Amino acid sequence: LRAQARTKLRVAVLAATGMVGQRYVTMLSDHPYFRLTTVTGQSSVGKPYGQVISSGPFPVSREAKDLTVKPTSVDGIGEADLVFSPLPTEAAMSLEPELVKRGYNVITDASPHRMDRLVPLVVPEVNPSHLSLLQRQREAGWKGSLVATPNCTAAGLALVLKPIHAELGLKRVLVSTMQAVSGAGYPGVPSLDILDNVIPFIKDEEDKVETEPLKMLGSVGKGGVKPAGFDISAMVHRVATTDGHLESMYVETEDSFNPSKVAELLARFRGEPQELRLPSAPAEPIIVTKEDARPQPRLDRYAGTVPGMSVVVGRIRKGLDSKSGRLTMLSHNTIRGAAGSTILTAELMYRKGLLG
Ligand SMILES: NC(=O)c1ccc[n+]([C@@H]2O[C@H](COP(=O)([O-])OP(=O)(O)OC[C@H]3O[C@@H](n4cnc5c(N)ncnc54)[C@H](OP(=O)(O)O)[C@@H]3O)[C@@H](O)[C@H]2O)c1
Repeated sequence: LRAQARTKLRVAVLAATGMVGQRYVTMLSDHPYFRLTTVTGQSSVGKPYGQVISSGPFPVSREAKDLTVKPTSVDGIGEADLVFSPLPTEAAMSLEPELVKRGYNVITDASPHRMDRLVPLVVPEVNPSHLSLLQRQREAGWKGSLVATPNCTAAGLALVLKPIHAELGLKRVLVSTMQAVSGAGYPGVPSLDILDNVIPFIKDEEDKVETEPLKMLGSVGKGGVKPAGFDISAMVHRVATTDGHLESMYVETEDSFNPSKVAELLARFRGEPQELRLPSAPAEPIIVTKEDARPQPRLDRYAGTVPGMSVVVGRIRKGLDSKSGRLTMLSHNTIRGAAGSTILTAELMYRKGLLG
């Protein structure tokens, strides 16, 4: 056991006190490949991590509770084989390139570098081959590496679009979202704005939902990633749920959209994480429900073998003609849309020897 513990990689979680950071710490408890050695914060530097978290009923290991919160800076991180970076946008923009220059391997949940030419934007079941861009980073003289996880709404969307695009060919996707308040971080949207209300605007979100899945579903070419050749139109809303983004989509396809065949296609979809039996890989990345009034955030956000890692799809039905269809999907925003997906990417990189 002691030998096994020694071979675990040392990982740092930046902004470990945030909504996403706390998910990381929970999911890294007793992880078979990774050992949490550093947590950083902004306003709680110097305190024991156990004193400053608010993650409620989720388990946090004794070791993590005893870690002292370090400053979020190049010098605050210390020795780490891997850095998880759920930093706020501004901080990520400047700090992440600095960390890469110092030789750290960074995987980020923040948005500034997601569309950079040499940065793979990855959902492990969708586009593991894009990790080949790490070779280009090395050729370009990068000392460390940078991989990005997509926007929380785009992650679940790409996962569902992947098998549909591969089998039927997508022409157009219209998606309308109902996004949980935890998506805005803590304390997020003021309670008096969101209770008894729906807000039909989330800054910069529609642009991310319309572009990021196309990068993920695109192919790596000479100049970087060539985006997939279909269009996405997004209409986003903030609603008064705690966790789990609901997305209603209308898809137009090249081939006929047969609802029961699409249900089968989605239910049997598996990716490399399932083949490799990675620790955070859910047995079914996409769970299909046939019940009329599902998926629902309260009932379905933790469905599946790894809570929060499966998306749940329901209400699969025809659209206006034979080459279009409608479906509703639920995806846990801080797990499948952030920490969980990023840890799964890290597990894949570990197994492929990309973190050495
Ligand atoms: N929430 C989601 O569903 C979700 C999903 C996907 C991606 N993301 C992305 O993940 C990142 C974090 O989101 P979140 O929801 O976890 O936010 P959050 O709950 O607001 O947490 C923010 C974290 O950043 C720290 N922080 C604040 N200002 C900082 C600064 N200037 N420099 C360094 N650290 C600073 C905070 O530390 P203190 O607690 O010490 O103040 C806290 O740990 C964002 O880029 C967000 O876009 C979020």
